[in-house]
Amino acid sequence: MFPEHRPRRLRSTAALRRLVSETTLRPRQLILPMFVAEGATAPRPISSMPGVVQHTRDTLRKAAVEAVQAGVGGLMLFGVPANRDATGSGAVDENGILNVALRDLSSELGDSTVLMADTCLDEFTDHGHCGVLDDRGGVDNDATLSVYADMAVAQADAGAHLLGPSGMMDGQVGVIRRALDEAGHTETGILAYSAKYASAFYGPFREAVDSQLKGDRKTYQQDPGNAREALREIELDVEEGADAIMVKPALSYLDVIRLAADASPVPVAAYNISGEYAMVEAAAANGWLDRERTILEVLTSIRRAGADMILTYWATEAAAWLD
Ligand code: PBG
Repeated sequence: MFPEHRPRRLRSTAALRRLVSETTLRPRQLILPMFVAEGATAPRPISSMPGVVQHTRDTLRKAAVEAVQAGVGGLMLFGVPANRDATGSGAVDENGILNVALRDLSSELGDSTVLMADTCLDEFTDHGHCGVLDDRGGVDNDATLSVYADMAVAQADAGAHLLGPSGMMDGQVGVIRRALDEAGHTETGILAYSAKYASAFYGPFREAVDSQLKGDRKTYQQDPGNAREALREIELDVEEGADAIMVKPALSYLDVIRLAADASPVPVAAYNISGEYAMVEAAAANGWLDRERTILEVLTSIRRAGADMILTYWATEAAAWLD
């Protein structure tokens, strides 16, 4: 009695396994998210994200150059302002930390990488919400849109190639597209955070940007149980002018990444977020997981699910391993 089928045959040598491997993972597919803190004189460690820091302007520049030399596909910048207010005015100010840092990196790196910026107010508001509030304390969708429009133009002026609206306000992609075009920034693109879930996995990010948020984002971010509305959000963003779309988080939403990859006419990104990073780092620090193997398996799985590109805090390190 012999088995008729022997799938093990194609696994029997490293050369055979390499030959039939389906999923590619290349440095150019990785995007490094980075934090820069206004007024910082030394990098500040983020305790829940060991290995990740809030950069000074100077260390940001150095880490960005290092990432680009390692071959990563792009950089996504987040600003940590020294002062916050109700409308997040530091986001629009050309001297606000995010816009200043974009200018720094733009002059350092030019078009040798893809410079991206988080186009969202939560880092800049004193209440920590992604938009401005109405008199009852709710997030005012349409009032927020006009701030996003100004923020987008400021980021494009500062040299961003791709803007990442992540606030999940209705109509944000269309408003930003129009504002960019009217300001003459027809070549600045939009990487829309289309399907963004109200996730517990953002926990460490709150520390990373010193977020002031009390409460949650459930009136604008998606319910983790819903997949269909992700497709609706993607369809709307593409219609409004998104050049690429994103699913976020990644690991608990691999099915949504697959749906997005099958439906989207534009490239699909996935964000391997702070909590996903923290879980692996914590387990590896305890000796419970093999760190490098786990990271590469995580990133490969997100690619297998259909993401063309992955935002990951491991981008520089993983790029070096893959080289
Ligand atoms: C919003 C934004 C968040 C993240 C990226 N952009 C936080 C949130 O929506 O609560 C999270 C990224 C991460 O957790 O790694 N500006």
